[in-house]
Amino acid sequence: MRRRDFVTAAGAAGLALWTRGLFEGAAAASHSAIPFGAAVSDGPLQTDAAYQKALIEHCQLLVGEGGLKWADLRPSPSQYVYDQPDRLIAFAEANGMKMRGHTLAWYAAMPDWALQLKGETETSRELMTHIETVVGRYKGRIPSWDVVNEALSDDGPRVGLRDSVWSANLGEYYIDLAFHTARAADPAAQLVINDYGLEAATAKSSARRRAMLDLLRRLRDRDVPVQALGFQAHLPGNEEIDKDEVSRFVSDVKDMGLDVLVTELDVIDDQLPADIKERDAIAAKRVGALLGAILDVTRPTAVVTWGITDRYTWVPIWYKRADGHANRPLPLDEDYREKPMMRTIKQAIAGA
Ligand code: G3I
Repeated sequence: MRRRDFVTAAGAAGLALWTRGLFEGAAAASHSAIPFGAAVSDGPLQTDAAYQKALIEHCQLLVGEGGLKWADLRPSPSQYVYDQPDRLIAFAEANGMKMRGHTLAWYAAMPDWALQLKGETETSRELMTHIETVVGRYKGRIPSWDVVNEALSDDGPRVGLRDSVWSANLGEYYIDLAFHTARAADPAAQLVINDYGLEAATAKSSARRRAMLDLLRRLRDRDVPVQALGFQAHLPGNEEIDKDEVSRFVSDVKDMGLDVLVTELDVIDDQLPADIKERDAIAAKRVGALLGAILDVTRPTAVVTWGITDRYTWVPIWYKRADGHANRPLPLDEDYREKPMMRTIKQAIAGA
């Protein structure tokens, strides 16, 4: 199955957005699948032809692994450096693909000057100006944004609002401000709140699902224009997916009128057996369980993996295997051969 096979019948607004976007420049073959995409690493995009070929062959949409984060975009208060995102969107458009924007308000990957922001006035001005400027620049070209990334805390059993320069100066209201500003900057863009650790059959993941639902309800009650929830889905390979709980969670999210999408899918395999066949089979099983749990309730508006090949992945930065074997978190191996995970993804979303 190749790139042009992936199009989607119009559904919720986000889906319609994707579908509309996908038809532009993409000679669609059939109306059977959900858009598939991958995060792109800027270095190899410029130097590795096999990498470019794999992205074109398999993806309908791309997202910058970096490039649109404050640390990359804003080295100083007066500067906006668009080299990376301009490069990626040019590559995407030249090959009939779309690009997602990641991310407008995150606690991490922040330049030092922005971490010094103090007080409501200065902080809200900088956040609004940044979002107006960046979303405005790509208006009509980036149809979906991770407006707020990783708002939930991760420092103990109680899951609340994560400490950040944004929450420290604006409280939870920074989320309202970010979404309203993004909505004004591009009225047609899909606006996503994105987070991790929402998939597993663990007490921690269960607490995070509850905290996310509570947050979404508060935002809905304040008419904050959140349109969709992004499952990052960095799946711990040694943890089962709680299919029933995830389906119930997705159903609760849908009942609030929100879409869901998978934004950073990969399998953390540092605790999995060394045997490659066994390890790849477990990774594919985790991915199949998650997509199945979502698809039992609704169509995700997109499924995006955090990279496409084991050759280029963030996983060894944090989850290097003790046995020295290379990590295998992604759908293609280091030589761009399809793994069971890619077949599982394609079967899941093609059959949707
Ligand atoms: O570009 C600089 C380079 O100039 C410099 O020489 C080099 C050495 O310090 O650093 C390079 O920047 C690195 C950047 O990746 C590009 O490779 C940063 O140090 C490094 O921190 C950054 O890591 C990224 C991380 O987010 C932080 O932004 C990872 O590639 C990326 O996979 C990871 O992605 C996050 C998502 O955004 C949010 N969810 C979790 C996910 C995984 O952590």
